[in-house]
Amino acid sequence: MFEAIRGKRALITGAGSGMGACMAELFADHGAIVGIHYNKSEAGARKVQGMIQEKGGEAILLRADLMDPGACSHLVPRFTQEAGGIEVLVNNAGGVQGHPHFLEMDRESWDRTISLDLTAPFFLARSAFGYMMDHGGGRIISISSIAAKYGGSAETIHYGAAKAGVEAVTKTLARAGARYGILVNAVQPGVIGTDFHRKIGRASLEERVKQIPLGRAGTPLDVARLCLFLASEGGDFITGQVYGVTGGD
Ligand SMILES: NC(=O)c1ccc[n+]([C@@H]2O[C@H](COP(=O)([O-])OP(=O)(O)OC[C@H]3O[C@@H](n4cnc5c(N)ncnc54)[C@H](OP(=O)(O)O)[C@@H]3O)[C@@H](O)[C@H]2O)c1
Repeated sequence: MFEAIRGKRALITGAGSGMGACMAELFADHGAIVGIHYNKSEAGARKVQGMIQEKGGEAILLRADLMDPGACSHLVPRFTQEAGGIEVLVNNAGGVQGHPHFLEMDRESWDRTISLDLTAPFFLARSAFGYMMDHGGGRIISISSIAAKYGGSAETIHYGAAKAGVEAVTKTLARAGARYGILVNAVQPGVIGTDFHRKIGRASLEERVKQIPLGRAGTPLDVARLCLFLASEGGDFITGQVYGVTGGD
């Protein structure tokens, strides 16, 4: 199992922290050549690269602010050039850019969140799709959120809307990609214990975790394992789907 990922070139966005860092290590542990994309987390990205290299794996570092259209459009071509190709893209980078109540929602928070969580994943996927069409196919996996299922909170309405958009994009690209062997899926994490929550000002997850049927927050590895499954032979007959990793939420 997971043998098909060996030797594959996999670009993972937001891999200097949280779930992306975990995916990069897990994919590399199974023989993938990993692109560790980061923006601010240079130290984290270097640490992940170091851990992979220590185990004899291959990892390429790429910095880009995905809210900068130019940097975003160059990311996949840069990886493809450095690695010699791309078979897997994981659109993992994301987050909430300002979280006022929707009654107070300013245009900037809305636009920045849509830019990071919907516009960037679409343009990255399109870029990878173009390459994969001419090179025997590939896998595109986008990290959505349980916020797409229920709608975001009153303070994350823009984030929920962006993630729901990513799921719609996933379905269109999956239909268009099937004939080329490009398989496109999305993953909906529930509450996962990463820095994401601190960044949106949540002091504690305790009350929220009480609502999760399995009684705990997820871990980055819970999500990374599903991504590995989808990127390897586990995902050979799966496209256009959205999978929850939510502990029953
Ligand atoms: N944690 C959860 O409960 C949860 C639940 C559902 C979905 N998600 C989604 O899961 C994904 C990973 O989040 P996480 O929980 O692992 O949190 P995280 O550690 O905060 O990871 C977010 C990543 O996004 C990257 N990023 C943010 N702004 C960026 C920008 N302008 N340009 C490029 N990269 C940028 C960050 O890179 P730098 O640090 O290098 O800037 C960071 O590595 C996100 O898409 C998030 O929306 C998380």
